[in-house]
Amino acid sequence: MTTMVALHSTEAGAAVGGCRMKAYEQITDAVTDVLRLSKAMTLKCAAAGIPHGGGKSVIVVDRPLTPELRRQVLLDHADLINEFDGAYRAGPDVGTGPDDMLVLRELTPHAYCLPEEHGGTGSSSGPTARGVLAALKAASRHVFGTDDLTSRKVVISGFGSVGELIARSLRADVVVSDVDESRRTDEFGWVPPDLAYRTKADVLIPAAVGGVLSQETVEHLDVRLIVGPANNQLTDDSVAGLLEERGIVWVPDHVASAGGVIYTLAREDDGADHETALKRVDGIEATVGKLLARSSAAG
Ligand SMILES: NC(=O)c1ccc[n+]([C@@H]2O[C@H](COP(=O)([O-])OP(=O)(O)OC[C@H]3O[C@@H](n4cnc5c(N)ncnc54)[C@H](O)[C@@H]3O)[C@@H](O)[C@H]2O)c1
Repeated sequence: MTTMVALHSTEAGAAVGGCRMKAYEQITDAVTDVLRLSKAMTLKCAAAGIPHGGGKSVIVVDRPLTPELRRQVLLDHADLINEFDGAYRAGPDVGTGPDDMLVLRELTPHAYCLPEEHGGTGSSSGPTARGVLAALKAASRHVFGTDDLTSRKVVISGFGSVGELIARSLRADVVVSDVDESRRTDEFGWVPPDLAYRTKADVLIPAAVGGVLSQETVEHLDVRLIVGPANNQLTDDSVAGLLEERGIVWVPDHVASAGGVIYTLAREDDGADHETALKRVDGIEATVGKLLARSSAAG
Protein backbone atom coordinates (compact mmCIF):
# COMPACT_ATOMS: atom_id res chain seq x y z
CA MET A 1 0.00 0.00 0.00
CA THR A 2 1.12 3.55 -0.68
CA THR A 3 0.98 6.33 1.86
CA MET A 4 1.70 9.99 1.14
CA VAL A 5 1.91 13.35 2.85
CA ALA A 6 1.47 16.71 1.10
CA LEU A 7 2.58 19.97 2.67
CA HIS A 8 0.98 22.95 1.00
CA SER A 9 2.23 25.66 3.34
CA THR A 10 4.07 26.02 6.62
CA GLU A 11 4.24 29.81 6.46
CA ALA A 12 1.82 30.39 9.35
CA GLY A 13 3.00 27.39 11.37
CA ALA A 14 3.19 23.61 11.16
CA ALA A 15 0.89 22.16 8.51
CA VAL A 16 -2.18 20.38 9.88
CA GLY A 17 -4.63 18.17 8.06
CA GLY A 18 -6.45 14.91 8.10
CA CYS A 19 -5.20 11.45 7.23
CA ARG A 20 -7.50 10.01 4.56
CA MET A 21 -7.66 6.25 4.07
CA LYS A 22 -9.48 5.14 0.97
CA ALA A 23 -9.31 3.27 -2.32
CA TYR A 24 -8.53 5.19 -5.52
CA GLU A 25 -8.85 4.02 -9.10
CA GLN A 26 -5.39 5.33 -9.98
CA ILE A 27 -2.49 6.37 -7.79
CA THR A 28 -2.48 9.72 -9.65
CA ASP A 29 -6.03 10.33 -8.33
CA ALA A 30 -4.66 9.99 -4.80
CA VAL A 31 -1.86 12.45 -5.58
CA THR A 32 -4.35 14.96 -6.99
CA ASP A 33 -6.56 14.50 -3.93
CA VAL A 34 -3.77 14.94 -1.37
CA LEU A 35 -2.50 18.08 -3.13
CA ARG A 36 -5.93 19.72 -3.42
CA LEU A 37 -6.86 18.80 0.14
CA SER A 38 -3.60 20.17 1.55
CA LYS A 39 -4.23 23.50 -0.21
CA ALA A 40 -7.77 23.57 1.20
CA MET A 41 -6.31 23.12 4.69
CA THR A 42 -4.08 26.20 4.21
CA LEU A 43 -7.16 28.21 3.27
CA LYS A 44 -9.15 26.69 6.13
CA CYS A 45 -6.55 27.63 8.76
CA ALA A 46 -6.09 31.12 7.28
CA ALA A 47 -9.84 31.87 7.20
CA ALA A 48 -10.21 30.56 10.75
CA GLY A 49 -7.24 32.53 12.04
CA ILE A 50 -5.45 29.38 13.18
CA PRO A 51 -1.64 29.75 13.27
CA HIS A 52 -1.00 26.71 11.08
CA GLY A 53 -0.45 25.86 7.45
CA GLY A 54 -2.13 23.22 5.34
CA GLY A 55 -1.16 19.61 4.88
CA LYS A 56 -2.86 16.32 4.27
CA SER A 57 -2.02 12.68 4.11
CA VAL A 58 -3.47 9.80 2.17
CA ILE A 59 -3.24 6.08 2.68
CA VAL A 60 -4.20 4.36 -0.55
CA VAL A 61 -6.15 1.20 0.19
CA ASP A 62 -5.48 -1.34 -2.56
CA ARG A 63 -6.55 -4.59 -0.89
CA PRO A 64 -8.97 -5.78 1.79
CA LEU A 65 -7.89 -4.33 5.13
CA THR A 66 -7.53 -6.77 8.02
CA PRO A 67 -7.14 -5.16 11.47
CA GLU A 68 -3.46 -6.19 11.47
CA LEU A 69 -2.80 -4.74 8.01
CA ARG A 70 -4.58 -1.53 9.02
CA ARG A 71 -2.32 -1.25 12.05
CA GLN A 72 0.82 -1.94 10.02
CA VAL A 73 0.01 0.64 7.37
CA LEU A 74 -0.79 3.23 10.05
CA LEU A 75 2.57 2.55 11.71
CA ASP A 76 4.29 2.94 8.32
CA HIS A 77 2.44 6.18 7.90
CA ALA A 78 3.60 7.36 11.33
CA ASP A 79 7.19 6.77 10.14
CA LEU A 80 6.54 8.94 7.12
CA ILE A 81 5.02 11.70 9.28
CA ASN A 82 8.16 11.65 11.45
CA GLU A 83 10.29 12.38 8.40
CA PHE A 84 8.70 15.84 8.32
CA ASP A 85 10.06 16.54 11.78
CA GLY A 86 6.93 18.24 13.12
CA ALA A 87 6.20 20.27 9.98
CA TYR A 88 3.09 18.10 9.44
CA ARG A 89 0.56 17.00 12.04
CA ALA A 90 -2.20 14.53 11.21
CA GLY A 91 -5.75 14.26 12.46
CA PRO A 92 -8.59 11.97 11.37
CA ASP A 93 -10.29 12.29 7.99
CA VAL A 94 -12.42 10.15 5.68
CA GLY A 95 -11.70 6.50 6.53
CA THR A 96 -9.85 7.18 9.79
CA GLY A 97 -10.89 8.11 13.32
CA PRO A 98 -9.51 8.91 16.78
CA ASP A 99 -8.55 5.23 17.35
CA ASP A 100 -6.29 5.36 14.29
CA MET A 101 -4.66 8.51 15.67
CA LEU A 102 -3.84 6.50 18.76
CA VAL A 103 -1.98 3.98 16.61
CA LEU A 104 -0.05 6.81 14.90
CA ARG A 105 0.88 8.14 18.35
CA GLU A 106 2.69 4.89 19.12
CA LEU A 107 5.42 6.07 16.74
CA THR A 108 4.92 9.80 16.29
CA PRO A 109 3.94 12.69 18.58
CA HIS A 110 2.54 14.50 15.50
CA ALA A 111 -1.00 13.10 15.58
CA TYR A 112 -3.95 14.87 17.21
CA CYS A 113 -7.63 14.23 17.91
CA LEU A 114 -7.03 11.14 20.05
CA PRO A 115 -9.94 9.37 21.77
CA GLU A 116 -11.24 11.25 24.82
CA GLU A 117 -10.18 8.45 27.20
CA HIS A 118 -6.62 9.03 25.98
CA GLY A 119 -6.68 12.76 26.62
CA GLY A 120 -7.79 13.84 23.15
CA THR A 121 -10.97 15.48 21.94
CA GLY A 122 -12.34 12.48 20.05
CA SER A 123 -14.50 12.79 16.95
CA SER A 124 -14.64 16.29 15.48
CA SER A 125 -18.02 15.74 13.79
CA GLY A 126 -19.93 17.67 16.48
CA PRO A 127 -17.84 20.86 16.25
CA THR A 128 -17.78 20.56 12.45
CA ALA A 129 -21.59 20.39 12.34
CA ARG A 130 -21.78 23.32 14.76
CA GLY A 131 -19.50 25.36 12.49
CA VAL A 132 -21.67 24.61 9.46
CA LEU A 133 -24.76 25.72 11.41
CA ALA A 134 -22.96 28.95 12.36
CA ALA A 135 -22.10 29.55 8.70
CA LEU A 136 -25.67 28.73 7.69
CA LYS A 137 -27.04 31.28 10.14
CA ALA A 138 -25.01 34.16 8.70
CA ALA A 139 -25.58 33.04 5.11
CA SER A 140 -29.36 32.69 5.64
CA ARG A 141 -29.53 36.25 6.94
CA HIS A 142 -27.60 37.37 3.86
CA VAL A 143 -29.79 35.49 1.38
CA PHE A 144 -33.24 35.32 3.00
CA GLY A 145 -33.01 38.31 5.38
CA THR A 146 -33.56 35.99 8.37
CA ASP A 147 -31.91 32.97 9.95
CA ASP A 148 -35.31 31.44 10.69
CA LEU A 149 -35.52 28.47 8.33
CA THR A 150 -38.78 27.04 9.69
CA SER A 151 -40.59 27.41 6.38
CA ARG A 152 -37.57 26.63 4.19
CA LYS A 153 -36.62 23.39 2.50
CA VAL A 154 -33.08 22.16 3.14
CA VAL A 155 -31.50 19.25 1.22
CA ILE A 156 -28.57 17.50 2.91
CA SER A 157 -26.50 15.35 0.57
CA GLY A 158 -24.62 12.83 2.74
CA PHE A 159 -26.38 11.57 5.84
CA GLY A 160 -23.17 10.59 7.64
CA SER A 161 -21.92 11.72 11.01
CA VAL A 162 -21.85 15.47 10.22
CA GLY A 163 -24.92 15.41 7.94
CA GLU A 164 -27.01 13.67 10.56
CA LEU A 165 -26.02 16.11 13.31
CA ILE A 166 -26.92 19.04 11.05
CA ALA A 167 -30.26 17.44 10.12
CA ARG A 168 -31.14 16.90 13.78
CA SER A 169 -30.23 20.47 14.75
CA LEU A 170 -32.19 22.24 12.03
CA ARG A 171 -35.68 23.59 12.42
CA ALA A 172 -36.61 23.38 8.76
CA ASP A 173 -38.20 21.09 6.18
CA VAL A 174 -35.22 18.72 5.98
CA VAL A 175 -34.69 16.23 3.15
CA VAL A 176 -31.66 13.94 3.26
CA SER A 177 -29.85 11.85 0.68
CA ASP A 178 -27.14 9.19 0.84
CA VAL A 179 -25.65 6.53 -1.43
CA ASP A 180 -26.01 4.15 1.48
CA GLU A 181 -29.69 3.19 1.39
CA SER A 182 -29.42 1.78 4.94
CA ARG A 183 -29.07 5.38 6.19
CA ARG A 184 -32.65 6.11 5.09
CA THR A 185 -34.96 7.11 7.94
CA ASP A 186 -38.60 8.13 8.27
CA GLU A 187 -37.61 11.11 10.39
CA PHE A 188 -36.65 13.18 7.35
CA GLY A 189 -37.67 13.37 3.73
CA TRP A 190 -35.49 11.34 1.35
CA VAL A 191 -34.21 12.00 -2.15
CA PRO A 192 -32.06 9.54 -4.19
CA PRO A 193 -28.42 10.68 -4.42
CA ASP A 194 -28.55 11.31 -8.19
CA LEU A 195 -31.38 13.81 -7.63
CA ALA A 196 -29.96 15.65 -4.61
CA TYR A 197 -28.34 18.28 -6.84
CA ARG A 198 -31.50 18.75 -8.95
CA THR A 199 -34.10 19.07 -6.21
CA LYS A 200 -35.89 22.39 -5.77
CA ALA A 201 -35.08 23.71 -2.29
CA ASP A 202 -33.92 26.84 -0.49
CA VAL A 203 -30.65 25.46 0.87
CA LEU A 204 -28.33 22.66 -0.24
CA ILE A 205 -25.84 21.18 2.23
CA PRO A 206 -23.08 19.11 0.60
CA ALA A 207 -22.03 16.73 3.39
CA ALA A 208 -20.73 13.70 1.50
CA VAL A 209 -17.79 14.06 -0.86
CA GLY A 210 -15.89 16.77 -2.76
CA GLY A 211 -16.11 17.65 -6.45
CA VAL A 212 -19.91 17.81 -6.42
CA LEU A 213 -20.27 21.31 -7.89
CA SER A 214 -19.23 21.17 -11.54
CA GLN A 215 -20.24 23.10 -14.68
CA GLU A 216 -22.71 20.29 -15.29
CA THR A 217 -24.30 19.97 -11.83
CA VAL A 218 -24.56 23.73 -11.27
CA GLU A 219 -26.71 24.03 -14.42
CA HIS A 220 -29.37 21.85 -12.79
CA LEU A 221 -29.32 23.38 -9.32
CA ASP A 222 -32.57 24.89 -8.06
CA VAL A 223 -31.47 26.39 -4.73
CA ARG A 224 -30.50 29.85 -3.48
CA LEU A 225 -27.84 28.96 -0.95
CA ILE A 226 -25.16 26.26 -0.63
CA VAL A 227 -23.24 25.75 2.59
CA GLY A 228 -21.81 22.49 3.84
CA PRO A 229 -18.87 20.60 5.32
CA ALA A 230 -17.66 18.54 2.33
CA ASN A 231 -14.12 19.58 1.41
CA ASN A 232 -13.33 20.88 -2.09
CA GLN A 233 -16.90 21.09 -3.34
CA LEU A 234 -16.02 22.87 -6.59
CA THR A 235 -14.42 20.80 -9.35
CA ASP A 236 -12.45 23.93 -10.27
CA ASP A 237 -12.49 27.64 -9.43
CA SER A 238 -14.44 28.60 -12.58
CA VAL A 239 -17.53 26.94 -11.07
CA ALA A 240 -17.71 29.81 -8.55
CA GLY A 241 -18.35 32.21 -11.44
CA LEU A 242 -21.13 30.02 -12.76
CA LEU A 243 -22.76 29.90 -9.32
CA GLU A 244 -22.66 33.69 -9.21
CA GLU A 245 -24.21 33.96 -12.69
CA ARG A 246 -27.02 31.69 -11.51
CA GLY A 247 -27.58 33.86 -8.43
CA ILE A 248 -26.66 31.09 -6.02
CA VAL A 249 -24.73 32.06 -2.90
CA TRP A 250 -22.03 29.51 -2.02
CA VAL A 251 -20.12 29.64 1.25
CA PRO A 252 -16.60 28.32 0.55
CA ASP A 253 -16.20 24.92 2.19
CA HIS A 254 -12.86 25.87 3.74
CA VAL A 255 -14.74 28.47 5.80
CA ALA A 256 -17.87 26.46 6.61
CA SER A 257 -16.10 23.21 7.50
CA ALA A 258 -13.48 24.59 9.88
CA GLY A 259 -15.34 23.86 13.13
CA GLY A 260 -13.58 20.55 13.75
CA VAL A 261 -10.04 21.81 13.37
CA ILE A 262 -10.80 25.05 15.26
CA TYR A 263 -12.23 23.11 18.21
CA THR A 264 -9.59 20.37 18.31
CA LEU A 265 -6.60 22.70 18.17
CA ALA A 266 -8.17 25.09 20.70
CA ARG A 267 -8.51 22.18 23.14
CA GLU A 268 -5.39 20.16 22.39
CA ASP A 269 -2.88 22.95 21.62
CA ASP A 270 -4.17 25.95 23.54
CA GLY A 271 -5.65 24.07 26.50
CA ALA A 272 -9.00 25.86 26.03
CA ASP A 273 -11.99 24.36 27.84
CA HIS A 274 -14.99 22.96 25.94
CA GLU A 275 -17.08 26.17 26.10
CA THR A 276 -14.22 28.44 25.05
CA ALA A 277 -13.38 26.14 22.13
CA LEU A 278 -17.04 26.11 21.02
CA LYS A 279 -17.11 29.91 21.14
CA ARG A 280 -14.23 29.94 18.69
CA VAL A 281 -16.19 27.61 16.41
CA ASP A 282 -19.18 29.96 16.62
CA GLY A 283 -16.87 32.70 15.30
CA ILE A 284 -17.47 31.16 11.85
CA GLU A 285 -20.81 33.01 11.85
CA ALA A 286 -19.10 36.42 11.99
CA THR A 287 -16.49 35.35 9.42
CA VAL A 288 -19.19 34.28 6.95
CA GLY A 289 -21.20 37.45 7.56
CA LYS A 290 -18.16 39.62 6.80
CA LEU A 291 -17.14 37.47 3.82
CA LEU A 292 -20.56 37.64 2.14
CA ALA A 293 -20.94 41.38 2.81
CA ARG A 294 -17.52 42.02 1.33
CA SER A 295 -18.18 39.77 -1.63
CA SER A 296 -21.49 41.52 -2.39
CA ALA A 297 -19.90 44.94 -2.09
CA ALA A 298 -17.08 43.95 -4.43
CA GLY A 299 -19.45 42.33 -6.92
N1 LIG B 1 -16.09 14.96 10.29
C1 LIG B 1 -15.45 16.12 10.31
O1 LIG B 1 -15.06 16.63 11.36
C2 LIG B 1 -15.22 16.86 9.03
C3 LIG B 1 -14.47 18.05 9.06
C4 LIG B 1 -14.29 18.78 7.88
C5 LIG B 1 -14.83 18.31 6.70
N2 LIG B 1 -15.54 17.13 6.70
C6 LIG B 1 -16.07 16.65 5.43
O2 LIG B 1 -17.50 16.59 5.53
C7 LIG B 1 -17.99 15.47 4.79
C8 LIG B 1 -18.83 14.59 5.70
O3 LIG B 1 -18.02 14.13 6.78
P1 LIG B 1 -18.53 12.96 7.75
O4 LIG B 1 -17.54 12.92 8.86
O5 LIG B 1 -19.97 13.13 8.02
O6 LIG B 1 -18.31 11.70 6.81
P2 LIG B 1 -19.11 10.29 6.89
O7 LIG B 1 -18.23 9.34 6.17
O8 LIG B 1 -19.57 10.02 8.27
O9 LIG B 1 -20.43 10.59 6.03
C9 LIG B 1 -20.42 10.75 4.64
C10 LIG B 1 -21.74 10.16 4.14
O10 LIG B 1 -21.84 10.44 2.75
C11 LIG B 1 -22.33 9.30 2.08
N3 LIG B 1 -21.93 9.40 0.69
C12 LIG B 1 -20.75 9.06 0.12
N4 LIG B 1 -20.76 9.36 -1.19
C13 LIG B 1 -21.97 9.94 -1.44
C14 LIG B 1 -22.57 10.50 -2.59
N5 LIG B 1 -21.93 10.54 -3.77
N6 LIG B 1 -23.84 11.00 -2.48
C15 LIG B 1 -24.51 10.96 -1.30
N7 LIG B 1 -23.98 10.44 -0.18
C16 LIG B 1 -22.72 9.95 -0.25
C17 LIG B 1 -21.76 8.12 2.83
O11 LIG B 1 -22.53 6.95 2.63
C18 LIG B 1 -21.82 8.63 4.28
O12 LIG B 1 -23.05 8.27 4.90
C19 LIG B 1 -16.76 14.78 4.20
O13 LIG B 1 -16.57 15.27 2.89
C20 LIG B 1 -15.62 15.24 5.10
O14 LIG B 1 -14.39 15.28 4.41
C21 LIG B 1 -15.76 16.41 7.83
